[in-house]
Amino acid sequence: MTLLAGIDIGGTKCAVSLGVHQGGERPDLIGKLQCPTPGKPEETIAQLIAMLDRLLETHGTCPPDAVGISCGGPLDSARGLLLSPPNLPGWDRVDAVRPFRERFGDAIPVALQNDANACALAEWKWGAGRGCSHMAFLTFGTGMGAGLILGGRLHAGANDMAGEIGHMRMEAYGPVGYGKAGSFEGFCSGGGIAQLAATLALEKLQRGEAPAYCLSRDGLDSISARTVGEAAYAGDETALKALRLVAEQLGRGLAVLVDLLNPEAIVIGSIYGRLHSLLEPVMLESLRREALPVSLGVCRVLPSELQEQIGDYAGLSVALHALEERRGPGFGSV
Ligand code: BGC
Ligand code: NA
Repeated sequence: MTLLAGIDIGGTKCAVSLGVHQGGERPDLIGKLQCPTPGKPEETIAQLIAMLDRLLETHGTCPPDAVGISCGGPLDSARGLLLSPPNLPGWDRVDAVRPFRERFGDAIPVALQNDANACALAEWKWGAGRGCSHMAFLTFGTGMGAGLILGGRLHAGANDMAGEIGHMRMEAYGPVGYGKAGSFEGFCSGGGIAQLAATLALEKLQRGEAPAYCLSRDGLDSISARTVGEAAYAGDETALKALRLVAEQLGRGLAVLVDLLNPEAIVIGSIYGRLHSLLEPVMLESLRREALPVSLGVCRVLPSELQEQIGDYAGLSVALHALEERRGPGFGSV
């Protein structure tokens, strides 16, 4: 039995999860605490440690066997440093690992990992990617990042930047993501969907009509992937058009992964899970048009199985991964 602590550092909120892991099964989540991300990194990390202490106290067990931290990149996993991730402005060269080492001692592994990589580990160990040797996970949430499992190992690249697929240019013009117009994150992210839907709404408003998700110009700024999704499910044609544009680009992005990596599965999180039935038909059409059929024949495209809990399992899987790296493969699989 192994006690794992998972830390999820996000742009708007942070969470600490405690899990008990036995053998190869999904850990039991025995506690979770959340807080909004305050501006200052030192404060936030101190608060996360205090939250973890509180969880450990209420469960009468101390300390954890390993701590895993998941955060958007760029970051330096070997040194435990966050390198100004775009969702955490001002968090430059922030040591996310050392405060946990100081609290629990060097005997306990503390590892930092890119959030998409952490989610890929979680879906691979305990979710839709179970049993695969080659798989990719796409976040498709606030941002678009990929985590890659290749040859039965996490592939993080030369400096933790493997899978930064949101930066890839899909079109010369388009919604902005990753500081780049027409990028994959520009189209396939919460902000991207909102931007596309706002452009289409404005065109409609100029013709004296209005989509269900935006009745006047005053509403343009409050469009979100959620409101667009709801309108699309209710049959609003402008919302459906925005999602068709998104699904088309999603399929093209997936085709690059299929052609480049020849994976057995691509698992997609967050927004894809919620809008799956609306996105899948156009996504598949575009994927089938773009990818090599022989590669596509072995690749399943699946929504995340861990769904809303993926953030919890992501941190726990980084913790377990750190333990396995320390103790050698095979640990925890009996
Ligand atoms: C970041 C990635 C991250 C992804 C999902 C992107 O904007 O560059 O590192 O994995 O968002 O949070
Ligand atoms: Na990655």
